[in-house]
Amino acid sequence: MYRIAPSILSADMARLGEEVQNVIVAGADWIHFDVMDYHYVPNLTFGPVVCSALKPYLKNIPIDVHLMVEPVDLLIKDFANAGANIISFHPEASRHIDRSLSLIREHNILSGLALNPATPLCMVEHVLDKLDMILIMSVNPGFGGQKFIPAMREKIRQCKTLCDKYADKSGRQIMIEVDGGVCDSNIADLIDDGANIFVAGSAVFGKDDYHMAINSLKQHFPRG
Ligand code: DX5
Ligand code: ZN
Repeated sequence: MYRIAPSILSADMARLGEEVQNVIVAGADWIHFDVMDYHYVPNLTFGPVVCSALKPYLKNIPIDVHLMVEPVDLLIKDFANAGANIISFHPEASRHIDRSLSLIREHNILSGLALNPATPLCMVEHVLDKLDMILIMSVNPGFGGQKFIPAMREKIRQCKTLCDKYADKSGRQIMIEVDGGVCDSNIADLIDDGANIFVAGSAVFGKDDYHMAINSLKQHFPRG
């Protein structure tokens, strides 16, 4: 299963509903929703009110909430009520990671942990049974349009090995999402490395034709 998740951080904020509709018609599989609090990251975006306002525009397309906020637990509840389908947070931003993951699952939402470029992969090792997705940040969180950090390819490969080993034991495959600097020229390598969910902000919203932009990313997806 491979998915493109356009990040509305790079959309035209004055026309957010329309932008979401357009990108869905253009082939978006998920909508990536970057929540920033000017505390955990040096930028400020949108909260649950905007998420629930966008919900009618989403039809059955999942909304993938990426929390770059500290602390996380209260917002997990609010985003669950606002219609989030997947919620990821950064382990550094929660005192009790296992508890925060359980809180997400209690709302029947898929759970994810987001790892900054310098955050070691071992942060996820003891909570794999509570995880549906591992989000590998391939830029430092806070802004769209940054350059992909090449060392993250090795981290994705190690993450894939870890997830495959876990799948052998449990029969459950954890998704691997890459976020930051994903574009036409690196997506094929990232697929080879083992990622299957691709956040794309500027690579979609930075283009005039969203359909062409999403298609040129998807053309690298393995067939069948
Ligand atoms: C960065 C965000 C990303 C960002 C990706 O903190 O988490 O989702 O919007 O944007 P691009 O694809 O432009 O790097
Ligand atoms: Zn993100």
